[in-house]
Amino acid sequence: MSFVLVTGGAGYIGSHTVVELIQNGHQVVIVDNLSNSSYDSISRIEYLTRSKVPFHKVDLTDYSGLDAVFDQYEFKTVLHFAGLKAVGESARNPLKYHNNNVIGSINLLRTMQSHGCKSIIFSSSATVYGDVTRLEGQRIPIVETCPTQPTNPYGQTKLAVENTLRDVFAADQQWRIAILRYFNPIGAHSSGLLGENPHGVPDNLLPLIAQVASGRGKFSVFGTDYDSVDGTPIRDYVHVVDLAQGHVAALHHLDGLKEGTGICREWNLGTGTGSTVFEVHSSFERASNRKVPYTVATRRPGDVLNLTADVSRAATELGWRARLTVDKACDDLWLWTERHPSSGYQNVDGRVRLSSATGAIKVQIGAQGDIESITIGTQRLQGTRIQFKNLYGPAVRRTSNGFAVEYATDTTPIVYQFEFQSESRVCFTLYEIGAESLPRFEQVFEAVSEKYACSSSTFEIVDEMVET
Ligand SMILES: NC(=O)c1ccc[n+]([C@@H]2O[C@H](COP(=O)([O-])OP(=O)(O)OC[C@H]3O[C@@H](n4cnc5c(N)ncnc54)[C@H](O)[C@@H]3O)[C@@H](O)[C@H]2O)c1
Repeated sequence: MSFVLVTGGAGYIGSHTVVELIQNGHQVVIVDNLSNSSYDSISRIEYLTRSKVPFHKVDLTDYSGLDAVFDQYEFKTVLHFAGLKAVGESARNPLKYHNNNVIGSINLLRTMQSHGCKSIIFSSSATVYGDVTRLEGQRIPIVETCPTQPTNPYGQTKLAVENTLRDVFAADQQWRIAILRYFNPIGAHSSGLLGENPHGVPDNLLPLIAQVASGRGKFSVFGTDYDSVDGTPIRDYVHVVDLAQGHVAALHHLDGLKEGTGICREWNLGTGTGSTVFEVHSSFERASNRKVPYTVATRRPGDVLNLTADVSRAATELGWRARLTVDKACDDLWLWTERHPSSGYQNVDGRVRLSSATGAIKVQIGAQGDIESITIGTQRLQGTRIQFKNLYGPAVRRTSNGFAVEYATDTTPIVYQFEFQSESRVCFTLYEIGAESLPRFEQVFEAVSEKYACSSSTFEIVDEMVET
């Protein structure tokens, strides 16, 4: 069986793309070091797609770890999202960015080469164009042939990887390389289950506005004296689900090339329409039905008036166009924000997590119906109260042939019901209490419970046992 490898698949854009890939019939394997993401996104991908997604916690700078993953699967294509992306941090710590983004990508390409996989889709960025106002003549919207000149180390790492890819292709024209230059990805999955998980103060406009709308942080508009309708800068905001579908289109384009034909080509992924900071701000206020306070500050050095994509190449060659509006992205982002008030997956319950546990599950129930211990594989957890990830105050009760753990996530009361099939084999069913989707949940999770209940369970357990 042929797989698609998604590096950085637990992250913001990667996780949305994995969902689209699976929905388009691809078999996906995820590699991520979880440095800027959480295992939770993978379990939610599994929930949304009703399928088990193999996950390997590997850092791309670990060549042998990566090589071991390639030994296990036959990959036809790699979608390479894994990378660090904070512009400000890259200026403070350029070596971290060059090591992670450039060395990581080179390791990946070496591993692909040694395993005969020559097809890659790379997450590049509009940041490689730099300040297009330095160029004479009309440069907006930006076409792919626009000269590149990044203005920060993050952008330099993206260009360095692009250049490496072009060199790899020049040396061996069997390679199929799609370089996708994203403009400003925004929004979240319409289910409210996947979204961006910014650590600390977000770098990007919309996650920042969303934080302020939830009562945290401050929002400054840098410059209201630009030559735009309302004086604020213009950017091309593309819904993350549209972007994810752009990757599927790129993959199908590479797959559809004639036998023996290679390619190395850049495509802009944006909407082709710019929105000002104030327009996005108003859209978010409408979506959230809240006032989002802001202060006006002076222009930031390096900020430019307008970064809008010319998207005709992607439209004609990949058959892809963004369909979703900024308003829709704001609606989806607000749903995600409301469901995750403490910002993304991390710290939903404020507790430390073990990375993940794999293996057959054994559960021991105490006299009061409480869980005494859970063993997953060789890992034994013991305590008067054991919590599964995202659990708040689980109530455990016996059922006729097992036990049920009831808990609430931020928005939804859920019951995990475990049934003992044998001492080391447990089946589980997930119920969303009182929701219309009850039958779907039962059906789906019964279908995948086979996999979970056997040797490849991937439960993540909170590393804390609280005495009650
Ligand atoms: N979000 C944007 O605004 C934007 C714009 C243009 C380009 N991009 C690029 O798109 C890609 C995905 O961005 P995102 O917004 O989803 O970011 P993200 O941080 O949410 O996702 C990146 C993922 O890569 C993982 N990762 C990082 N370094 C790794 C390593 N060495 N080994 C294994 N995993 C590693 C992180 O844990 C994370 O899950 C990045 O390469 C980013 O530079 C993002």
